[in-house]
Amino acid sequence: MTGFNTRAIHAGQDPDPATGAVIPPLHLTTTYKQDGVGGLRGGYEYSRSANPTRDTLQTALASLEQGTRGLAFASGLAAEDTLLRTVCRPGDSIVLGGDAYGGTYRLISRVLAPWGISHQPVDLNDLDAVRAAVAPETARVIWCETPSNPLLNVSDIAALAEIAHASGTLLVVDNTFASPYLQQPLTLGADVVVHSTTKYLGGHSDVVGGALVVADADLGERLAYHQNAMGGVAGPFDAWLVLRSLKTLGVRMDRHSANAGRIAEWLLAHPAVDDVLYPGLPQHRNHEIAAKQMSGFGGMVSFRLKGGEEAALRVCERTSLFTLAESLGGVESLIEHPHRMTHASAAGSPLEVPADLVRLSVGIEDVDDLLADLDQALA
Ligand SMILES: Cc1ncc(COP(=O)(O)O)c(C=O)c1O
Repeated sequence: MTGFNTRAIHAGQDPDPATGAVIPPLHLTTTYKQDGVGGLRGGYEYSRSANPTRDTLQTALASLEQGTRGLAFASGLAAEDTLLRTVCRPGDSIVLGGDAYGGTYRLISRVLAPWGISHQPVDLNDLDAVRAAVAPETARVIWCETPSNPLLNVSDIAALAEIAHASGTLLVVDNTFASPYLQQPLTLGADVVVHSTTKYLGGHSDVVGGALVVADADLGERLAYHQNAMGGVAGPFDAWLVLRSLKTLGVRMDRHSANAGRIAEWLLAHPAVDDVLYPGLPQHRNHEIAAKQMSGFGGMVSFRLKGGEEAALRVCERTSLFTLAESLGGVESLIEHPHRMTHASAAGSPLEVPADLVRLSVGIEDVDDLLADLDQALA
């Protein structure tokens, strides 16, 4: 197999046979001419079912995650919904990591619960608790976000896969924060990888999208059936934008990781900061497992303020290079207050996040400029 960056640029992306175009064409079409009834060219019939630009992205994603099949969706949540409604039935339960993206929690606890799918929040670092949670026959999925949003907890993917498979449960890993450049969960035993491609895979804050990648071909077939039947597909232009961005994923992640590492160390020494959550710091509680299963620590840094919620809100409002905004993973740096913004839907639940927490999506600007911005905001 060729290296990651080579696959990011070439997998599924041979020059167009008709014209030699080096960049895969953007197929903005809903339908395809048939050569006689049922005479499809290359299997294309209707763009919800299949579109060549989406297919190219799906092939590239499968290659980067080392899976057998990739599927691209209109958003990360559309991917999650399609996955959960494919594999779960009424009466089933989902073992949910103790912190996860607020929208994932909302989907599971508010949208799927009325259809008879329950969930149990579990600390995925407590492997005995995970074993107990998957013991009942009804446990269908372990949902693991690693590193998690926004607390940057890291779970041991290989250990969770062993527990999941001993009880016939599927291990799903949301790999949005790491990206396949830093972590490939399928190679560690996970069954399904989920992405919000809105984040690092898109990388330029200009496209909303989602993806699933699986190891097992039969599960891939079932998901592809539901992708078409439920219809939450990625549009061709969105697929093309993500495909364009994948080519620079490696160099972007190296720079995100380097900048975030510098900022995490700087924050650690700041008198206004109570705690810094970054898996690259040796004192992070999951540093050892992060160093084992990731090849870098990514661009997300969270920190807690000694001055509580008020101080956290003040910092968010005072930065200028760090833009106050939701989302993450773009080339530009963002700052946010998870308790009131991205994770507001987890308020009052076991997944509620602390109010003194600030989350940074560290971009690829010059790190000295980013440090100066934080310095004046924390002063
Ligand atoms: C870790 C994680 N997973 C999933 C999602 C949902 O993705 P989308 O917003 O593309 O629907 C997000 C969005 O912030 C996320 O941060």
